[in-house]
Order: sequence, then structure tokens, then C-alpha cells
Amino acid sequence: MLEYEKNLTTNRRIELFNGLMKEKISKEFYDWLIENGFFTQAASTKYHGAFEGGLFDHSYEVTQVLLDMTQRLNLQWTRPESPYIIGMFHDLCKIDNYITIVDEPGEIMMGTGDVKGKEIHFEYNQDCILTGHADKSIMLLSQFVNLTEEEMLCIRFHMGAYEGQDQWDNYDKAIRKYETVLFTHTADMYTSKVKGV
Ligand SMILES: [Fe+2]
Ligand SMILES: [Fe+2]
Repeated sequence: MLEYEKNLTTNRRIELFNGLMKEKISKEFYDWLIENGFFTQAASTKYHGAFEGGLFDHSYEVTQVLLDMTQRLNLQWTRPESPYIIGMFHDLCKIDNYITIVDEPGEIMMGTGDVKGKEIHFEYNQDCILTGHADKSIMLLSQFVNLTEEEMLCIRFHMGAYEGQDQWDNYDKAIRKYETVLFTHTADMYTSKVKGV
């Protein structure tokens, strides 16, 4: 459970995504994800997933943890695709949050297409129109997926108590309504803090 596949190529990420998600989302949403860099975006500038593809790797692993918890704890969701939608897209807000700065372009290895010695880092994108975290994920996702209330609340409170003291009471109410809100936060924490992505 602790191990995850590291150093994936973009093609491998898309392949993993298709295996898990293709039947569950529209072609329009899929194309949007590709066009907007969901498979190459980082998950942060310097914390977990601060590498090319980090956003996908984090989201994929959260989905796996949620599915595992669903099975072990016999979690009941409003609809079966919920853990997939929540895990994969709870951090969709990050899709345009960072820009990649190439410090050292590296060298393309003849015949393989691999690049050696490439060095990059990430900075905040100053051109973002929408800001915010969980709310922004819900807004972006709502363009393509008709979210259930449970999915909306799981994404809204995936930061748990880190969301800030003014939200503690709402977080509490959300957990009482759907226990999956608590497990979504746990899956997110387990993935970033224990699995390290
Ligand atoms: Fe998040
Ligand atoms: Fe997350």
C-alpha cells in the first residue's frame, strides 16, 4: 500500500488514467484535461508532488487509497463512481496554479526520446483567474460532471481542519452527513504525508 510507481512518463500516466477513469467521464472533459496539462502539472511548488506529473500522481494515489478504504471499510457512496471522481479531481484547482521554469534544458538521448539532465522548478502562475482551493476544484469540475452533494462536500472539506477554524463547524456537519468526508481527508493526508506524493 505504501509503494507507488515513481518516475512515470506522461504516456504511462494517461494509460493509468484511462484504465481507471475513461468510462466515467465525457470525451469533452477528457480532452480538456489533456489540453490543460492535467498529466504534466505539478502538485505544488515545493511540497508534495513538486515535479512534472505530480498533480496526476497525487490524484491517482488518493483515488487508490479511497478505493482501498471503500473496500476494507465497506464505505457506501451515493453512486459507485464517487471515490473515482473525488480522488482524481479534488485538487483540479491546481491545473493552472503553477508554471514550469526550465533551468537547464538537458539533452535528448538519441533513439529513446528520453531527456537527460533536464532541470526545472515551479512557480505560482500569476495569470490565474480563479483562485482558491477546494471551491475552485468544484467550480472547474462542475463544468463537466454533475456532482452529487456527497462528492461536493468530500471535495469541499478534503483539507479537513486545515481548512481553517471558521470552517470547523461546517466540516463537523459535513462529516455527520457523510462519513466519506472524513475518509476523503484521511486519504488525502495518507497519500501526501505517508506515501509522500
Ligand atoms: Fe488539496
Ligand atoms: Fe490532495
